[in-house]
Amino acid sequence: TPRPLAGPLATPALAGSYPQIRMRRNRTAPWVRDLVAENRLGVEDLIWPIFVREDDEPQTTIPSMPGVRRHTVAEAVEAVGAAASLGIPAIAIFPHVADARKSADCREAVDPENLVCRAVRAIKAAVPQIGIVCDVALDPFNSLGHDGLVHEGQVLNDESIEVLCKQARVQAEAGCDVIAPSDMMDGRVGAIRNCLDAADFEQVKICSYAAKYASAFYGPFRDAIGSSGALVGDKKTYQLDPANSDEALREVALDLQEGADMVMVKPGMPYLDIIRRVKDTFAVPTLAYQVSGEYAMIRGAADQGWLDGERAMLESLLAFKRAGASAVLTYFALDVARKLKEG
Ligand code: PBG
Repeated sequence: TPRPLAGPLATPALAGSYPQIRMRRNRTAPWVRDLVAENRLGVEDLIWPIFVREDDEPQTTIPSMPGVRRHTVAEAVEAVGAAASLGIPAIAIFPHVADARKSADCREAVDPENLVCRAVRAIKAAVPQIGIVCDVALDPFNSLGHDGLVHEGQVLNDESIEVLCKQARVQAEAGCDVIAPSDMMDGRVGAIRNCLDAADFEQVKICSYAAKYASAFYGPFRDAIGSSGALVGDKKTYQLDPANSDEALREVALDLQEGADMVMVKPGMPYLDIIRRVKDTFAVPTLAYQVSGEYAMIRGAADQGWLDGERAMLESLLAFKRAGASAVLTYFALDVARKLKEG
């Protein structure tokens, strides 16, 4: 086909179409691609979830999460120091609790000397510039593996909230900056806010896991904290049904009304549509959690040589930014920070 004439002799082209319009022009070189990039992933977008264990607990590796380990408190302090030097703004702490310390009343969760509180105090003292996020949920401490108290096979709502409030309070006293209720009990955000305010922790933030789905992608995490064996049944009576999206918006609306400062969507990659809807509807800080199973998929495939792990990692995280997330919890945080530093 003949090329259309250029200059004054050219037939007026169809406005807004080829060949006047060539989308590829803005993709010809890295400099122009950088110039027109709509989203960027930076180290300041990352929250690094870490697992802590007791000194006498020998299991450091997690088979379903290659490259992730359980740290003693001393090792955690060192690792978090490294994260801070890379510019990572915050970490999230998850404990691997010995079976002997788990019980049906979850009393370990509210003990100011528990593993989480000791880790928070040690990290706060050594690395004061990093933000510390603590999960509020009973599963690591529950002999039945659920996020709330269980009575006759039912996960109790209001009774669980009382324990969750105490758990939030001991974490705040230890120096936690962001309380992150991941339990999905109704009304817990407001109750925790009141409890924190009454104890003069009005600056302690609440990031609610507002849209947390009953997901198969949490499997490796449950191995990591040692709750997979304990869990009786599933979490479908409190976590969201993966079929639902409007319901997630109601959860977010309620948590915001109860005082959440930030909301989280979890898992991440299969729920990018939820992140976008939450961001568009409420225009509030919206975090995403790239959960253990997502990490395991990318890492596992990369270890097999089936995909380029580094590129898949960066692409998956950039996708969260595009969907509207302000920050992402990811087990890749250290790798990403190192990679971004290299340029
Ligand atoms: C516990 C909790 C879970 C995760 C974070 N907090 C697991 C669950 O609800 O069973 C999952 C994180 C991950 O998979 O990386 N309430």
